[in-house]
Amino acid sequence: MLAKKRGTYTYLFVFGILSLTLFSFKYAVEKYNAFYPAELWKDNNGVHINAHGGGILFHNGLYYWYGEHKIAGYEGNKAHVGVHVYTSTDLYNWTDKGIALSVDTVDTKSDIAKGCILERPKVIYNKKTGKFVMWFHLELKGMKYAAARSGVAVSDSPTGPFTFIRSLRPNKGAWAINAKDFHKKGVLSASTVTRKDLNGVRDPQKVDALNILGRDFKGGQMARDMNLFVDDDGKAYHIFSSEENSTTHIAELSDDYLSHTGKYVRCFVGMFMEAPTLFKTSEGKYYFIGSGCSGWKPNTARSAVADDLFGPWKRLGNPCIGEHAETTFDSQSTYVLPVQGKKDTFIFMADRWTPKNAIDGRYIWLPIYFEGGKPQIKWLDKWSL
Ligand code: GAL
Repeated sequence: MLAKKRGTYTYLFVFGILSLTLFSFKYAVEKYNAFYPAELWKDNNGVHINAHGGGILFHNGLYYWYGEHKIAGYEGNKAHVGVHVYTSTDLYNWTDKGIALSVDTVDTKSDIAKGCILERPKVIYNKKTGKFVMWFHLELKGMKYAAARSGVAVSDSPTGPFTFIRSLRPNKGAWAINAKDFHKKGVLSASTVTRKDLNGVRDPQKVDALNILGRDFKGGQMARDMNLFVDDDGKAYHIFSSEENSTTHIAELSDDYLSHTGKYVRCFVGMFMEAPTLFKTSEGKYYFIGSGCSGWKPNTARSAVADDLFGPWKRLGNPCIGEHAETTFDSQSTYVLPVQGKKDTFIFMADRWTPKNAIDGRYIWLPIYFEGGKPQIKWLDKWSL
């Protein structure tokens, strides 16, 4: 009898130790101490992070990761939920803070009605107003990619809820600081140049000669893939693919970050770039990394440098090196993250899109090195700061 009882105690003891070991092992694998590009990246609940086309805000000691909340299947490429936000102290481990901006599930006429396309959300903090400001690329429901608008939302808290203010086409009635006389003379009606006129035209000068800038002067410039950048003096800029994606615009935002001032520059004219990112080194140099235009399919990244955001920009070519460098390691840029407290330490953030099952998209985060004044990105299976 006694022997039987002892046996039971031993069994319970061994079982207890085993469960404890398993529990701590489980905890240990879920706590990251490195980046694993392209692997599933689990949040505090063990769920793959759902923040695609994202960007990071650092505020009061915390990193906030905002991105597109995708759902399963091809339908997941449209916005059914909104913008997801996560927080982290170390950049490896992320806590789910829910939906920062929700699409409108009631009003089907809302600009951000459920089923619209809401991409590449970015959030910046305005010190003067104490508000968090979100801009994103917006395509109105049922119009595919024809609307080419920017949306803006605001919140008192970094985790939201953000309130949608409006959507617009930037810089209505304003000429780029480097617009030429032929653009101004040829202010065209909306029907004059169409997307079809661009078919097969890839010579930058011929693209420019179509004067899409002039066509959109009255109604505002097209704005698709985008990013935000706050300079050291607190001025914020909106960078976006404009003019039927042929030309990149860098536009100054108003003091409250809620509108455009009308001061903007055209860069990489007729070069069809997407997924723009901007960052600045301690030397005061501005860098650009972006992609070409091939939809969800990856292409070769491009980079450039400037002493002034308004240019001139000097092109530096593909920053990626090594195997799969020609497809940006099968991904497309979304943000360049300056690591806090580490001088000139930047993380290249990109998306490996999976359009057939949008929710499964993977995150490619890689360190940026500088070689002879050029940014360089190499593939790493695992790395840490
Ligand atoms: C990509 C763009 C994405 C998304 C996609 C749709 O080129 O970067 O944000 O718009 O096209 O095909």
